[in-house]
Amino acid sequence: MSTPSPTPPHPTPYDSVLDTIGWTPLIRLARVGAGVRTPVYGKAEFANPGGSVKDRIGLAIIEAAERDGTLKPGGTVVEGTSGNTGVGLAIAAALKGYRCIFTMPDKMSQEKVRLLRAYGAEVVITPTAVPADHPENYVMKAKQIVKDTPGAIMANQFFNDVNPEAHYQTTGPEVWRQTGGKVTHFVAGAGTGGTVSGAGKYLKEQRSEIRIIAGDPQGSLYTGYAQTGQMGEGEPYKVEGVGGDKIPTTVWFDYIDEWRQVSDRDSFLMARRVAREEGILLGGSAGMNVHLALEVAREIDDPDACVVTILTDTGERYLSKQFNDDWMRENQYLDIPRVTVGDLLQQRASAAPPLVSVAPTAAVRQALNLMTTWDVSQVPVVDQGRCIGSLVEGSLMIRSLEEPSVLDRPVRDIMDKPLPVVESTTPSDRLAPMLTRESPAALVEEDGALIGIVSRYDLLQQLIGGR
Ligand SMILES: Cc1ncc(COP(=O)(O)O)c(C=O)c1O
Repeated sequence: MSTPSPTPPHPTPYDSVLDTIGWTPLIRLARVGAGVRTPVYGKAEFANPGGSVKDRIGLAIIEAAERDGTLKPGGTVVEGTSGNTGVGLAIAAALKGYRCIFTMPDKMSQEKVRLLRAYGAEVVITPTAVPADHPENYVMKAKQIVKDTPGAIMANQFFNDVNPEAHYQTTGPEVWRQTGGKVTHFVAGAGTGGTVSGAGKYLKEQRSEIRIIAGDPQGSLYTGYAQTGQMGEGEPYKVEGVGGDKIPTTVWFDYIDEWRQVSDRDSFLMARRVAREEGILLGGSAGMNVHLALEVAREIDDPDACVVTILTDTGERYLSKQFNDDWMRENQYLDIPRVTVGDLLQQRASAAPPLVSVAPTAAVRQALNLMTTWDVSQVPVVDQGRCIGSLVEGSLMIRSLEEPSVLDRPVRDIMDKPLPVVESTTPSDRLAPMLTRESPAALVEEDGALIGIVSRYDLLQQLIGGR
């Protein structure tokens, strides 16, 4: 246990939860950063009452609208949002007595809808599959609601300078004070860009050499735009809350020294590591930030530098995503252990020898006998170590019933085509397309010799984890 702090963080009570927004802890990430000489710290924004950095802007946007007179008692706050900003706005609106209406595309999870409704917000679900300028698009719908609702304002987080200003007023000064002015690098992913721009501007004003690095998911257009001034071609990505395909006015490019992209895979894997190694449950965008902060720290390799990043939101919102192994595997973010055809042979539970075969001169009756003895449905016909044909139970039975004299003929006369041959080191997933109804098994070869036979049944057993 750590010794009690001489200045306890909350020595007196607060009037409301709004007073607890901000002044989040700064935590050393020494375990995921093991072996990296530059210290890396994460600002625990998940510790805000709504579980994310967006509580800061929810409150700031509402108070700014109160100050400029656009939001009056009994007024309504509207936003097209699916996530954290909605929670931040809903908390401030609940305490201040405003109505909240959020529009959200129907692809969003039920959990997110329920979360916002739990704070008393109204949620209007809109179809996902409509163009951006369609009246049913969630942004268009939010605009229409503002028009139709007297006393309504749009929070407009992507185009409202109150958003970066809130970080200039709070996040930036907190990082400066918590590091005793020692911060040398500030790393934050950009969604609206509010965090990296506002905090970045404040830090640069304190010491212009502080490097401000914006994180961006691979597939987003921000990095390309920052580097070339061109809007390139975007690609879908899975990390939520960061990146985009339009450039918001809340990104203040002048204060950002560098843009770097991170893959979904690296972001999610880092979020999982941080949970297991640091005991901190984070969303994917925070995973992206930590991945990037460690990359920067490794490159600087300086124990006197100080890298600070943002732990954007709580991972509880993503239990069915990066913390669900099935989801991770479906999206190919987890390495599935590679099973080879040789492994399949070894794991097989059957009592039959690895390779049951017949010579071309053997009688069909003998081959059928072998099949029933060992309970196999196909046998290769092997001559001098080479597969020259095969017998498959189904067709063999039909022929023998139609023409019983077949039973005494040599298999050479009636055999089907040879079975495919695969090396024992072949990954088992490459086997599936080779196995058909006509050719339901393959021979396994090792060092030029046939060592066994694997069937569709063996592959299916492995797929369903039956061994
Ligand atoms: C989960 C998450 N991460 C990161 C961000 C990015 O923060 P900003 O919008 O300040 O760039 C957001 C913003 O919506 C978010 O919801």
